[in-house]
Amino acid sequence: MTTTDISRPRFARMYMRAAGTAEGSGASEHRRRLLHGLSGTVVEIGAGHGLNFPFYPTQVDQVIAIEPEPTLRAQAEEAAERAKVSVRVLAGTADQLPVPDESADAAIASLVLCSVPDQRRALAEIKRVLRSDGELRFYEHVVPRCQPKRALLQLVDHSGLWPKIAGGCHPARDTTEAIMRAGFDVEEIERFGFAAQRFEPLIPHILGKARRP
Ligand SMILES: C[S@@+](CC[C@H](N)C(=O)[O-])C[C@H]1O[C@@H](n2cnc3c(N)ncnc32)[C@H](O)[C@@H]1O
Repeated sequence: MTTTDISRPRFARMYMRAAGTAEGSGASEHRRRLLHGLSGTVVEIGAGHGLNFPFYPTQVDQVIAIEPEPTLRAQAEEAAERAKVSVRVLAGTADQLPVPDESADAAIASLVLCSVPDQRRALAEIKRVLRSDGELRFYEHVVPRCQPKRALLQLVDHSGLWPKIAGGCHPARDTTEAIMRAGFDVEEIERFGFAAQRFEPLIPHILGKARRP
């Protein structure tokens, strides 16, 4: 255990079980597109058990994968050994990344900006570690625009129950807005409905690229 650990073993086991279905339903393809064309040094925030690792192109020199949850981090370490590129898994949280200023060519946020306690702080940290002109690649679920889904997810989010069950996940965040407010230039963004599990309704997701000016 480290001082930055966020221990949620029950969530970790649930996420690893659910991920099998999600990957088969299309999440793997989203990950492949998320990481396509990257090179240099990449920082991945909240890397989970390493589902992105197989999709890093060989032009990537090194991935620094930050994960605060010990069960997921242990699995990420194993996944790192199987990756085609060099992946270093570190303990740490998005609000204080253990990475020097302006040292990364790209940062990856996949299904994590829903879960960080303070999106503004996390995005400021991502900006700090990116070199000027560096890229933020994101794949996130976001608040629906249309009613009644929007109101329903806001209710689920604010009730506190879902965040408690789902590892701090807030399903009613407007992450596109947060990325723009943090001062990134959004260069590409695709919005689409995706149901990760069979029983889930379609939830809006965003996949895209933003640049640190
Ligand atoms: C839904 S999982 C996604 C994992 C992985 N990014 C993926 O695409 O499969 C959310 C992840 O965010 C991590 N997380 C939660 N709070 C965090 C924080 N404050 N800083 C960094 N990561 C965090 C969790 O431990 C978990 O790995």
